[in-house]
Amino acid sequence: MSTAKLIYEGKEYEFPVVEGSEGEKGLVIGDLRAKTGLITLDPGYGNTGSCQSSICFIDGEKGILRYRGYPIEQVAERGRFTEVCYLLIYGKRPSVDELRAFREKMNRHTLLHEDMKKFYEGYPPGAHPMAIMAAMVASLSSFYPETPETLDTNIVRILAKSKTLAAFAYKKSVGQPMVYPHNSLSWPANFLRMMFAVPAEDYEVNPVLEEALNLLLILHADHEQNCSTSTMRMVGSSEANLFASISAAICGLWGPLHGGANQSVIEMLEAIIADGGDYKRFIDRVKSGESHIRLMGFGHRVYKNFDPRAKLLKQTCDRVFAKLGINDPLLELAKNIEEHALRDEYFVKRKLYPNVDFYSGIIYRAMGIPTEMFTVMFTLGRLPGWIAHWMEQRRDKESRIHRPRQIYTGETIREFEDRGTKQLPTGR
Ligand code: ACO
Repeated sequence: MSTAKLIYEGKEYEFPVVEGSEGEKGLVIGDLRAKTGLITLDPGYGNTGSCQSSICFIDGEKGILRYRGYPIEQVAERGRFTEVCYLLIYGKRPSVDELRAFREKMNRHTLLHEDMKKFYEGYPPGAHPMAIMAAMVASLSSFYPETPETLDTNIVRILAKSKTLAAFAYKKSVGQPMVYPHNSLSWPANFLRMMFAVPAEDYEVNPVLEEALNLLLILHADHEQNCSTSTMRMVGSSEANLFASISAAICGLWGPLHGGANQSVIEMLEAIIADGGDYKRFIDRVKSGESHIRLMGFGHRVYKNFDPRAKLLKQTCDRVFAKLGINDPLLELAKNIEEHALRDEYFVKRKLYPNVDFYSGIIYRAMGIPTEMFTVMFTLGRLPGWIAHWMEQRRDKESRIHRPRQIYTGETIREFEDRGTKQLPTGR
């Protein structure tokens, strides 16, 4: 094992360097404070490895993404979402028989407990479906407590029930009766049916949409230590149960700088059109730094060349729109913005490229999914990744409760004078 030396206040310290299977190197500084009195300071953890992981590999400079070693392009073209769930969570690609057994097991757990349906009645009209998802997933832990014996079934339960939870949230928002799962269908088709079927009317799942949703779910399935996955691990590190950890990860995903960006992209494109469609003027406003406006769906902490998921989604947009014979002015606008930004010095210099969220919302729109549901769609896709990381952490002998340190910049010690506040009547 190689080492690196640190010289501080005239003394020399040596620290081991670990190397990953793709040659990535990390300085092991677990005993830095004990040896030197120093901690590392890395706001936003841009240069901090929080764990060793064998689930997902990204090379941001080359635009590479692999799940358990398999290139995303191949998985997206040849895989099924349930297969990817198995691959990420159990670490190996299932045989055809294993996949069949896994899907059958999942199909036994798609229903919600009838008592959980009542929870939906309590939400106000217009409640954001991400708030509903986070609360409903946390509530699952009250119905299915976690023990070593139930954990594997709970994994299957959340993968199976998440689509039912999400579709019910949508049905609640439009005031339609909830549609129960139909387990002879594939995962994406079952979800689309629960979303869009209405009682007493025939509903055929469009295979173009089923295929597109399968791809979207696969492309979102994992992305190593992003904000929501790190939240999953952070909460999981305290040994919180699986559902509670996922609920926290859902909240981590919600923000517009992370999974919420897919909703923000559509809102941004709609606002540009409402404002006359002058996207160049909008980009100038972004560049001027005015009111901290950002070009949503652009930029990534890791990808500095291109996001392979965005590339695949752009192609999918074209394919889906051609097959459905539809035209969406937002797609045209998004393409114009991309083309313009990729030639613009501001974006080139900062290595800002379209990320996975730039085109995903446009496909969700074509499916008829409302904008507020987009981040829920991301949640459904990201579940297997979160679960895989949570499981890996549980098995990792080096894992400890996550507890970063800080550099304190507040007041030094001062007297808390007695002003008689304790004697004041209560309520004042
Ligand atoms: N539009 C305009 N400028 C941007 C953008 C953007 N979308 N993203 C980054 N920049 C600029 C920053 O202003 C900064 O410029 P400066 O050096 O002049 O100050 C520089 O590029 C670096 O940006 P940071 O914010 O330091 O990059 P960071 O890695 O912290 O953030 C992030 C990454 C959050 C994704 C950012 O690019 C962003 O806000 N993008 C828009 C939101 C978005 O699309 N999020 C989805 C990401 S993918 C996902 O989570 C699934």
